[in-house]
Amino acid sequence: MRILVTGAAGFIGSAYVRHVLHEHAADRVLGLDLLTYAGNMANLAEVRDDPRFGFVQGDIADAGLVGQVATDVDAIVNFAAETHVDRSLLDPEAFAKANVIGVMTLLEAARTNGLRMLQVSTDEVYGHVPSGDAANEHYPLRPRSPYSAAKAGGELMCQAHGTSYETDVVITRGANTIGPRQYPEKLVPLFVTNALQDLSLPVYGDGRQVRNWMHVEDHAAAVDLVLRHGASGEAYNVGADNERENLDVVHAILERLDKPRSLIRHVADRPGHDRRYGLDTTRLREELGWAPHRDWLQTLNDTVDWYVANPDWWQSIREHDPRFQDYYERQYGQRLAGV
Ligand code: TYD
Repeated sequence: MRILVTGAAGFIGSAYVRHVLHEHAADRVLGLDLLTYAGNMANLAEVRDDPRFGFVQGDIADAGLVGQVATDVDAIVNFAAETHVDRSLLDPEAFAKANVIGVMTLLEAARTNGLRMLQVSTDEVYGHVPSGDAANEHYPLRPRSPYSAAKAGGELMCQAHGTSYETDVVITRGANTIGPRQYPEKLVPLFVTNALQDLSLPVYGDGRQVRNWMHVEDHAAAVDLVLRHGASGEAYNVGADNERENLDVVHAILERLDKPRSLIRHVADRPGHDRRYGLDTTRLREELGWAPHRDWLQTLNDTVDWYVANPDWWQSIREHDPRFQDYYERQYGQRLAGV
């Protein structure tokens, strides 16, 4: 199979590229990535010299370019997206462009060339799920942030394409994902790299919000299963059923790093903060036979240990990329000053 992987230089996209080249000797991968702040060619270092891998820099919303790169493949897997809720509150337009218009552009290429397209989506499209409840794939979509609304918009565009043009689309809705190479803006990589520098850990509100965590390699394996065996037009929840309150995650990070809990700072909450995501993953497990390879502590510890072992990777972002520093100041400056 020849696969166009968009967002290939990102966190989950690059893990997926490695997964495909490792698991499917006859496959070829063409990576497409705009290399915005979170795209990083260092994430592709292991595969760069593999003759089965090619790379093009560009935008999924660029119809001319997408039309060219989609002619020589059998499938598109779309990881390219704006992904961070806090940034979506600061700049919603960028999210509509990447997560809706970009998806539409890829769908057009899939339709024209008769390709299967897998849209990588998120459990956040379900919005807050009350305690005791678990969203299966038929649960209503009630996105509550500009990020999740844009992801839901992208999904609806996929479903409309399937209905209107019989484009072969499948969707995955992934839970919170951690592991090596995640840009240090999400909870876990931000807090690990802050703690390594003895900086405060800014916990939003009471820190009792609940998220469901899995390892990036388990996520990549699930996406690959759905690409090859998922039913056309269907969505699949992806999650390892590790529900944790944020404060418990933060305590586990500090314990692994042997850092004190006094680094924790409760700061002003995220507006519209979803209290809980709760996911029913029966379909993926029973219909496609997926199971995660790591439990919760292996997942968390593997992640923490990777940042400890790879300071060059994250220091080049945190210390040398003004885009990180500008964002950090904008997002946390007043919060940490207690304003
Ligand atoms: P995040 O990693 O941004 O993922 P998402 O919001 O998409 O689930 O956040 C995970 C949880 O951690 C979420 O409840 C918000 C919280 N959080 C903080 O408390 N402080 C922070 O600085 C960040 C980035 C997140």
